[in-house]
Amino acid sequence: MRRKLVAGNWKMHGLKAQLGDVVEIAAAAAAAPRVDVNLCLPFTLIEAAVAVAGAMPIGAQDVHEADKGAHTGCISGAMLRDCGASLTIVGHSERRADQHETSHDAWAKATAARRHGLQVILCCGETEAERDAGRAERIVQSQIEKSLPEGASGDWLTLAYEPRWAIGTGKTPTLDDIAAIHAIARAKLRHMVGDAADGIRILYGGSVTGANAETILATENVDGALVGGASLTVEKFGPIIAAAAEIARRG
Ligand code: PGA
Repeated sequence: MRRKLVAGNWKMHGLKAQLGDVVEIAAAAAAAPRVDVNLCLPFTLIEAAVAVAGAMPIGAQDVHEADKGAHTGCISGAMLRDCGASLTIVGHSERRADQHETSHDAWAKATAARRHGLQVILCCGETEAERDAGRAERIVQSQIEKSLPEGASGDWLTLAYEPRWAIGTGKTPTLDDIAAIHAIARAKLRHMVGDAADGIRILYGGSVTGANAETILATENVDGALVGGASLTVEKFGPIIAAAAEIARRG
């Protein structure tokens, strides 16, 4: 039985003035002991957030594949650890779109993150055009094949399926479509890492809210959610954590 994980991705939101929101979300997380909750924040907030988040892990949204060097503007795994981060997202579709990152880049970043003892949330997901062309399943399989790092196991790696067209749009796939992709992702993991696949959590991401969290989180092979817009305040994120806690309580 995999524990549910509710991960927040603040993207390029959050100033020090929002640290109070981190405190409130950490309190909501502490009130849901059967569920794992974390927040992936802008680099500039990580150290201050770690200081106020108690037991709730604080992560980043990207990491460079090199340990150090001449890479202007980039952040290494060692730097993330140095300021207290315990995880990072890699391969998010906004980085694939805006920074032209590939699945190979995601692989290299995940590999670097592990080298520094960081947990990893590895993202995959098709575009709307790819879904319309009937290629969603193939795209997700291919992304996993190219980005899954060596030694992948649930101890340090989580997969997130995030259809790009569902991110920040208020649109979500049907529960059947989510279940179908998650089943394919699980089969792909099993093909690649054998029994270790059973321990790897697969999150759904894309317009998860307090209103749809419970049905999405109850869908087969959905082990949690990666939440963007609705993770910024406890008013929005709290109900998603509570939905995960309710499902965990029902067992
Ligand atoms: P959203 O973003 O919840 O705002 O759709 C999810 C994500 O990009 O991780």
